[in-house]
Amino acid sequence: MFYIDHMREMFENRFGNLKAFVKTFGCQQNESDSEKICGFFRDIGFSFVDDPIFANLIVFNTCAVRHTAQDRIYGHIGMLKSIKRVNNNIFIIICGCMVELESEKNKILSKYPYVDFVCGAKSFEKFPELLYEHLTGIKIEENYSMSVIQKDKFKAWIPIISGCNNFCSYCIVPYVRGCEVSRKFEDILSDCKKYISNGTKIITFLGQNVNSYDYDGMKFKDLIYEVDKIDGDFTIRFMTSHPKDFTFSLVDTLAKCKHFSKSLHLPIQSGNNRILKLMNRKYTREEYIEKIDYARSKIEGLVISTDIIVGFPGETNEEFEDTISLIEKVRFFSIFSFIYSKRNGTLSATMQDLTKYEEKAKRIDRLINIQNKISEELHSELIGRNFRVFVEGISDEYLMCRTDSNLMVKILNGKNNYEIGNVLYVKIANSGRNALYAKLLEEI
Ligand code: 5AD
Ligand code: SF4
Repeated sequence: MFYIDHMREMFENRFGNLKAFVKTFGCQQNESDSEKICGFFRDIGFSFVDDPIFANLIVFNTCAVRHTAQDRIYGHIGMLKSIKRVNNNIFIIICGCMVELESEKNKILSKYPYVDFVCGAKSFEKFPELLYEHLTGIKIEENYSMSVIQKDKFKAWIPIISGCNNFCSYCIVPYVRGCEVSRKFEDILSDCKKYISNGTKIITFLGQNVNSYDYDGMKFKDLIYEVDKIDGDFTIRFMTSHPKDFTFSLVDTLAKCKHFSKSLHLPIQSGNNRILKLMNRKYTREEYIEKIDYARSKIEGLVISTDIIVGFPGETNEEFEDTISLIEKVRFFSIFSFIYSKRNGTLSATMQDLTKYEEKAKRIDRLINIQNKISEELHSELIGRNFRVFVEGISDEYLMCRTDSNLMVKILNGKNNYEIGNVLYVKIANSGRNALYAKLLEEI
């Protein structure tokens, strides 16, 4: 396409040597979008560096889900000032969810004038065209299809549904990512076939709520069922699931699928029904537990994790104790817990919130302590068991691996020349709070 060639020429004339630094904040959806941004910049001639100092193009793909994420990103944008001072020619792009918020976009453009270009998450598919328009003033009606650079060859993120229609009262995502749009069934299937035949071992379907996937009547369980039929050595993961749409019939399908990873991330958010109602989650504690019990009865070895928000507006101590009793009852392998963060524009931002931050911090500490103990116990129950694992990272001391079900396994690095993506068979010898320690079966 002429404008892609033209951009290549412009950047070559400006920099000579095309080096890009891309940093991703936030969720896997952003990771997946960044893989496309990298694919696009590779297509116009860039290679990638690990340090912004050596780059002439810098991209930050941002997150807006909580204040803490946002503050951290502003810290990073602030640090770019000194880089720009040394190299005034550098081109800085801020994109993603934060830029979709009018207030933040205006703040970036006015307070950080060295930022060259911004592009919000909703406009992401038109990133190349919008960048071209920014550089030349010329509007393009075509759409350049961005190819992906897989960060790890053995893993593929596959977006299946974008946006969210749920409007949980605390959540900014529906505002920054728009309403749900399911990707074409055939396109997802052909992506899967392509990745699997190229040696990808872990396929992760992505969406804010994968369970509401619906393309012309084809549902999420149909998609999983069809992908499971593909020949090859691969594992299927997906995230995130919404408990209200996580159905018994989906569990029945998963139980039949030989490629299902047996890992499930099912955010509960709170164990108290009044708070769940205020959050607009549309399920009760009892319904949630019933679904977990059913899934565990059908799928042996299922590893379940969750998200919890502590200190939602008006949450009393007793209501928080319901969350504690829930995690003690369900016994998750791991929990991602967050102190409630007020996001302007959401419904809960209008709710009265009199609980002090210190009180919320105490609550989350209590939750984390109890969960640590549960995680430790669940991991220790796996000592003596055999697993198949993937090598995900290599340090001098350990091979850092994951089971299909996403549990972390560390193996002492015997300098056996293993590589990232290798499949190993191990026996669990020891355990900690967040990881298992294993020996290679062949060495036992
Ligand atoms: N405050 C705190 N946590 C939040 N999350 C989403 N919005 C907020 C917020 N306003 C958490 C939820 C969600 C995860 C991705 O982030 O637990 O599942
Ligand atoms: Fe946010 Fe709820 Fe949608 Fe998840 S399901 S993205 S928490 S609105």
